[in-house]
Amino acid sequence: MKIFLDTANLKEIREAAVLGVVDGITTNPSLLARESGDPEQILVEICKTVDGPISGEVVATDAEGMVQEGRHLASLHKNIVVKVPCITEGLKATKVLAGEGKRVNMTLIFSPSQALLAAKAGARYVSPFVGRLDDISTEGMALVADIIEIFDHYDFDCEVLAASLRGPMHVVEAAKMGADVGTMPASVFASLLKHPLTDSGLKRFLDDWEKAKALLAAKVG
Ligand code: G3P
Repeated sequence: MKIFLDTANLKEIREAAVLGVVDGITTNPSLLARESGDPEQILVEICKTVDGPISGEVVATDAEGMVQEGRHLASLHKNIVVKVPCITEGLKATKVLAGEGKRVNMTLIFSPSQALLAAKAGARYVSPFVGRLDDISTEGMALVADIIEIFDHYDFDCEVLAASLRGPMHVVEAAKMGADVGTMPASVFASLLKHPLTDSGLKRFLDDWEKAKALLAAKVG
């Protein structure tokens, strides 16, 4: 499964990118609004930091406006993927942008039927929002499973991007299901690596090593 970070914070992105396992970035207007600076410049800087798909979202709500914005976003950098909301106008815009060869990430997907239409319109990614469904007492991960099952029957050139992942188990579940991508906040990404038994195990190895060295030194001396 490809790992994307769901953030527009360059410090977080730089810190995670050096680990060599971050494949791309997703942003949205809320995430960009949290950062200071020009959103387009931030997107370009992100593209220079991570050489993978970088989602930047349109804010127009009519198809023509979305297409214009999408073309502009795509012109900023070769890594940009145009994020479009899964509404009627978004579907029309996706068809046009995909027809021009631009990669579209159809976002705010909350039902399998939305994902099916997005894939048919030519979206390169569909983003089911797991955590936000969990928030309303609906099994968000079941949506990811449904979309994967549907896509398995066909030949869509469309990746399932599990989004709104709120903790490490969401990431593990998405990977077990075979999601193509999981996008997550930097805090969730960091939690994937940490395990207290790894830390205590390493401490014991190093302590034993030091003890053995001290014993050897005492014998030799
Ligand atoms: O990529 C989608 C994500 O930004 C939404 O996450 O936690 O706001 O539901 P969340």
